[in-house]
Amino acid sequence: MLDAAAHLKAGDLVAFPTETVYGLGADATNLHAVSRIYSVKGRPNDHPLIVHIASMDRMGDWARDVPEYAIALARSFWPGPMTLILKRSELAGDFITGGQDSVGVRVPDHVVALALLEAFERAGGKGVAAPSANRFGHVSPTTAAAVIEELGDYLSKDDVVLDGGACDVGVESTIIDCTGVVPSVLRPGAITEAMIEKCTGLEITLSNSQIRVSGSLENHYAPIAKVILSETPTQGQGFIAYANIETPAGVIRLASPRNDEEFAHLLYSALREGDTQGLSEVVVSQPIGNGIAVAIRDRLSKAAR
Ligand code: TXA
Ligand code: MG
Repeated sequence: MLDAAAHLKAGDLVAFPTETVYGLGADATNLHAVSRIYSVKGRPNDHPLIVHIASMDRMGDWARDVPEYAIALARSFWPGPMTLILKRSELAGDFITGGQDSVGVRVPDHVVALALLEAFERAGGKGVAAPSANRFGHVSPTTAAAVIEELGDYLSKDDVVLDGGACDVGVESTIIDCTGVVPSVLRPGAITEAMIEKCTGLEITLSNSQIRVSGSLENHYAPIAKVILSETPTQGQGFIAYANIETPAGVIRLASPRNDEEFAHLLYSALREGDTQGLSEVVVSQPIGNGIAVAIRDRLSKAAR
């Protein structure tokens, strides 16, 4: 990990596992390193990045005027699948925030990610900017092999890909805007609205903010195959559905999760498998629950556009 942290310090990129999806990391204070993230991803450079830190003690380096409720959220859910959007400090450059006055901060819950972030901080680093390690608009990678498949052609020989196995959660973190008097959810994830309300004692508002979230653009999280939201696949189509739903004849079953957590965990690798098999259409029967199923439906509705 020392070695990977040294690469970050030297301005190289390090892809690393988190509990949500794999991230493509760079020293968040290094303009040149961060600009390589944009070129490797093929991402427009006015899209803000999440700064990953080893503990909430570092929040004050990147943010100012942090509200009480955001501190309560950080205490309850970090390390974990939650990103807080806070008013930025001077350390957070325009190349991190997309020129906005806010910065996204997260403490991931993964031993490899935390070891990397701690080693980086011991070496004098402040934080690691990391978007999901996929080409812009594609499905996020949940294994190291998927990172290499996505970005292998664009990385340099000094960049590093750390392998921490398959990501536990499988969909990206909940993004919570904490720049207003009450929190608002910009992207649903494993930390649900009910959990946020219980933790903060505040009723959260529907997002009407002007804040840009790239995942809210059309056609995001999309595989090459066309994604169709339906219960009734036909011959030659891929199919992702709960284990108790049968596979009609001639349909290619890609995943059979038994609960919503497993659905989230398997979803992106199943969509990738559809592409590997060269399928042109994948039918997904959506989970109907409230917990992480909200995040699954959010990503699927974007993938299906
Ligand atoms: O689970 C995750 O959040 C993963 C892992 C690697 O941590 N990261 C991730 O990053 O999903 P990315 O860049 O693929 O998606 C982050 C989203 C983007 O849509 C970005 O626009 C939004 O967070 N974001 C980042 N900073 C922001 C800010 N200051 N204001 C509003 N949105 C922000
Ligand atoms: Mg992403």
